[in-house]
Amino acid sequence: MGVSNFFILLCLILCASSVLVCNGGITSSFVRKIEPSVDMPFDSDVFRVPPGYNAPQQVHITQGDQVGRAMIISWVTVDEPGSNTVVYWPENTKHKHSAEGTVLTYKYTNYISGYIHHCTIKKLKFDTKYSYEVGLGLTTRQFWFTTPPQIGPDVPYTFGLMGDLGQTYDSNRTLTHYESNPSKGQTVLFVGDISYADHYPLHDNRRWDSWGRFAERSTAYQPWIWTAGNHELDFLPESGESTPFKPYTRRYHVPYKAAGSTAPLWYSIKRASAHIIVLSSYSAYGMYTPQYSWLEAEFPKVNRTETPWLIVLLHSPWYNSYNYHFMEGESMRVMLEHWFVKYKVDVVFSGHVHAYERSERVSNVAYNIVNRACTPVKDQSAPVYITIGDGGNIEGLANNMTWPQPSYSAHREASFGHAIFDIKNRTHAYYNWHRNDDGYAVSADSHWFFNRYWNPVDESTTTVDQSTTTVS
Ligand SMILES: [Fe+2]
Repeated sequence: MGVSNFFILLCLILCASSVLVCNGGITSSFVRKIEPSVDMPFDSDVFRVPPGYNAPQQVHITQGDQVGRAMIISWVTVDEPGSNTVVYWPENTKHKHSAEGTVLTYKYTNYISGYIHHCTIKKLKFDTKYSYEVGLGLTTRQFWFTTPPQIGPDVPYTFGLMGDLGQTYDSNRTLTHYESNPSKGQTVLFVGDISYADHYPLHDNRRWDSWGRFAERSTAYQPWIWTAGNHELDFLPESGESTPFKPYTRRYHVPYKAAGSTAPLWYSIKRASAHIIVLSSYSAYGMYTPQYSWLEAEFPKVNRTETPWLIVLLHSPWYNSYNYHFMEGESMRVMLEHWFVKYKVDVVFSGHVHAYERSERVSNVAYNIVNRACTPVKDQSAPVYITIGDGGNIEGLANNMTWPQPSYSAHREASFGHAIFDIKNRTHAYYNWHRNDDGYAVSADSHWFFNRYWNPVDESTTTVDQSTTTVS
């Protein structure tokens, strides 16, 4: 073979291999049995009203400050306002503390809410189990939680991930699988779309109440970090409801003021070794808007020496290869992605698409209106994007994918499930996703994350496996 022929052959081999590399990642061959997604009826045991006059219900907790030394305790009473007091005490002590909260009600079309209580308890000790009690007289209820360790770069911490949960039988399976996972998270990062009350006429807000009772078995015992989804909008101007996010913001308080935010829809917290930024896909994010300006000021505050892991939660995914909500996140990506690359976000968790997907580290920030550079490219400064809107709500499964699988898509599967993001130290985190159809210990997708600040080497493990691209 002559030299020129050898180079031609070499070029052909390289071209062929680049085609393979440019092909997408893995589309799971697992095909979930298609079943109708229906909400559990109001008289289901998971929606049981706790016994006793005016007993607190729908108890949920979330971080109440920037660093994890405060907790917002929320609950609902239905017979009368009752007490706003939370009594709390660290394990193995007799001295009890108490804090006073506030109470509110709201109206939504023909619905009047119960008495919604919010109380922030402060100056908690790190890494300590606390018991707390809400209610009055004979109908008090007691719960417990564990505060996070003090913030530090090598503090291990485990986050659970769920999204688009709803209140169907599948939702119940997802939550049960999460609870029974041996590597159960210490805090849930919830990526939006909670109750799906808006599925019903006049957005039947009794479904907000039933969801609160359903999830209490987890939300009362570990903090859930809330992200607003489109099903939190409850925008119904034709019925007089023209205030977006009304039920959501009345029911789920977040520590946005501590994060310097002016609205509860975008904010940040630090927890253990993670800095978590929560954004709203359904609030203005264009230049000069409050959310844009807040994020512009927020990113430079992230101290990777203190909190190496930079995590962003937002509802509508930027990199999605399903034929559901395709490119809905595009305008937000165009506005904000350059910061995600500049500040080396480790991972972005989204929901909205009712299936599972993990991306390669890609960015698409080169484009201007004349250069045609509009294809996502591998970028080791870019986040991994994970879509985990697979909680199992009433709208059913997203099982229609784009073909061929785009090169940005590393792994995708149309199933319901939850995930765990397990931070080991400043350099490594182990992530795995569990589908509901398996036993709890089975991991259907896993990935070692290498921190973008401390260990920014390519951790991609995707190889093109032709045998797995069989779902139609
Ligand atoms: Fe959604």
